[in-house]
Amino acid sequence: MIKPVSFLAELVGRMTLAEKIGQLVMTGPPPPDRPAVDLRDAIRRGAAGSILNVTGRPVLDELQAIARQESRLGIPLLTCLDVLHGYRSIFPIPLAEVATLDPALWERTAAAAAAEARRDGIVMTFAPMLDVCRDPRWGRMAEGPGEDPWLAARYADAKVKGFQGIDGARLRQPTGLAATAKHFVAYGAVTAGREYASVDVSRRTLDEVYLPPFRAAVSAGVVAVMPAFVDLAGEPMTSSALLGDLLRTAWGFDGVIVSDYGAVAELVAHGVAEDLTHAAALALSAGVDIDMMSPAYATGLPVALEKGLVLPSDIDAAVMRVLTLKWRLGLFDGERGPTALSCNDDDGLDLPREAARRSFVLLKDDRGALPLGQHGDPIALIDPWLDRSDMLGPWPAIGAGDAIDLGGALAKAFPHRTVFAVPCALAGSDEELRSALRGSGVVVLRLGETTVMSGEGASRAFPVIPDSQLAVAHRVLAMGLPTVVLLSCGRPLIAPDLLDSAAAILVCWFPGSSGAEALADVLSGRSEPEGRLPVTWPHAIGQIPIHSSPRPAGRPADERDRFTSRYIDAPTAPRFWFGHGLGFTRFALERLDVMPDRVGLGESFVVTAHVRNLGGRTGRTVVFVFIRDRTAHIARPVLELRGMIPVTLEPHAGADVGIRLRSDELAPLGGRGDQRPEPGDFDILAGFSAEPSGLKAIRLVLSDLSGGSVKQERRHDA
Ligand code: GLC
Repeated sequence: MIKPVSFLAELVGRMTLAEKIGQLVMTGPPPPDRPAVDLRDAIRRGAAGSILNVTGRPVLDELQAIARQESRLGIPLLTCLDVLHGYRSIFPIPLAEVATLDPALWERTAAAAAAEARRDGIVMTFAPMLDVCRDPRWGRMAEGPGEDPWLAARYADAKVKGFQGIDGARLRQPTGLAATAKHFVAYGAVTAGREYASVDVSRRTLDEVYLPPFRAAVSAGVVAVMPAFVDLAGEPMTSSALLGDLLRTAWGFDGVIVSDYGAVAELVAHGVAEDLTHAAALALSAGVDIDMMSPAYATGLPVALEKGLVLPSDIDAAVMRVLTLKWRLGLFDGERGPTALSCNDDDGLDLPREAARRSFVLLKDDRGALPLGQHGDPIALIDPWLDRSDMLGPWPAIGAGDAIDLGGALAKAFPHRTVFAVPCALAGSDEELRSALRGSGVVVLRLGETTVMSGEGASRAFPVIPDSQLAVAHRVLAMGLPTVVLLSCGRPLIAPDLLDSAAAILVCWFPGSSGAEALADVLSGRSEPEGRLPVTWPHAIGQIPIHSSPRPAGRPADERDRFTSRYIDAPTAPRFWFGHGLGFTRFALERLDVMPDRVGLGESFVVTAHVRNLGGRTGRTVVFVFIRDRTAHIARPVLELRGMIPVTLEPHAGADVGIRLRSDELAPLGGRGDQRPEPGDFDILAGFSAEPSGLKAIRLVLSDLSGGSVKQERRHDA
């Protein structure tokens, strides 16, 4: 991209030190416990180049006008907000959207959210959140891409393109947003799932699990990155060498690094900075361009400069990157009027509704309770714990929940059945509940997490369904009526009894603005649930952290043998595996082929699965394609995801579906781009989830074209 270097360099040349530092400061309405900030005055003085958490076109237009017309140099503002899963029209939370396994949908929803937000004066979002997570104790699992790095990398690519356009083509348009890949890196591995706690992962795990989605975001042209609050092996990410050595140098990221909220000042609390001056110097030297909501840059950088802790060129370089982002967003051209579509104009469909119903995961339906029939005895709805805004979940931007009405949506979807809500009080005692449910044909019981139990600052030592809800659930189930549980959550919840006793359990996550309609669509059979678990669902808290692609260990689990990698007081396998999810029909993977079954470095092969719809209803499923390197110089995971193939089939129809993989995709994923496959034997596996019993496997040999003896070469490598 040709930067207007002369224009911006000339502008930097005219800036005072205070104005330069002002461009590195992001401020906004303070939290309740902090003194008020006069935003207008700060902007007018050139003391703030970016603002966050201010919404509404009129006020943003006013603040931009102050920046452009009343500050000395007229430099426009970055106006920022966390637009994670929608702006006004709210989509399912990111973890739910990942469950759709549809990169095209991920891109569409980001583009729709970008159009809504930009039209309202927002130019930058702090999204996508790309923290792979395998620990349901961590509340922010809800905001992220799930447990699998390969899937997370595709999510990253789609979201960046959705927000910014391909190669940033929409950054200057009234439908584009600057995206921020966050939180760099491995925040999802906080110790014991405890929010903001230290992270200790091996370099290999960092490379293969946590870095890939960030590398994908950078490859997709993301224009900003946000370091995580946490320290990684004692090095706070806000002053980490990884920002310079890996992100900027190895990956060539030349965009803006914006700190997390107050994180620069928190370097003092981390114990790596003596004071704000030291903190500012450490962060700027590491590559952090913008200090979000901390006084460190504003008060510390002038002193750091005087003390020689930072150089004028460090400050100028940061200012140049911030101004370049503003230029790329077209902010120096003045802001054009709103011409963007609202999200609901997209394809004439209600995009939030489509995304929501495709995100639902049907964990079980033992007795074919779903879909509910159009005729029959009344449907009793019990959902006293969760109010309408809980449909939106954490980070709802300016979405409002008041229009969400599950009872109304169900009544509309079942015009020939009575739908009634059981008042919360009646759920209290057996007799009252029994009389309330008398004559009903089915119970729809919605329970799970409220919004405040999910997202940032919501680590849970017991990621379970609250006892008060379970008590009612067991009472309802004891009534003997078919009961469909709608599970609202931002993470897997440990609920062995409920999972065993409920006939059907539909995970609806936090489904967004059209969640009620989407639930009615699925409960009525107008649509089938398509979601597949993006995270492994544990049996027991003690299994956490847990995921479906561990390394095998020297004594792989064997429930019959005490001296293998297992528990004596709980199952070793999860309750549900990564990728699990049922529909309204059943599928069989009848055959798996790999052609050719011997390839050299640089060649490719085709994986073909023969799938059949065994049911009487058209359905959609996804075939996952995994690899396993049987023998390498280091132990490899038992499964590594390398493909997902959606397939829709008519009743009883079969089809061959396939993907082509290159031999370099047999290599471990790597954030440093230095990974290569090791010649030798591989398994290519396919199935409808990571559950071992459902996988078919075929051997593939990766030959070494040099003809060297594979085994000997590996020993040398080792
Ligand atoms: C929060 C979050 C971050 C968010 C930022 C601004 O603390 O960690 O994800 O973008 O502050 O709201």
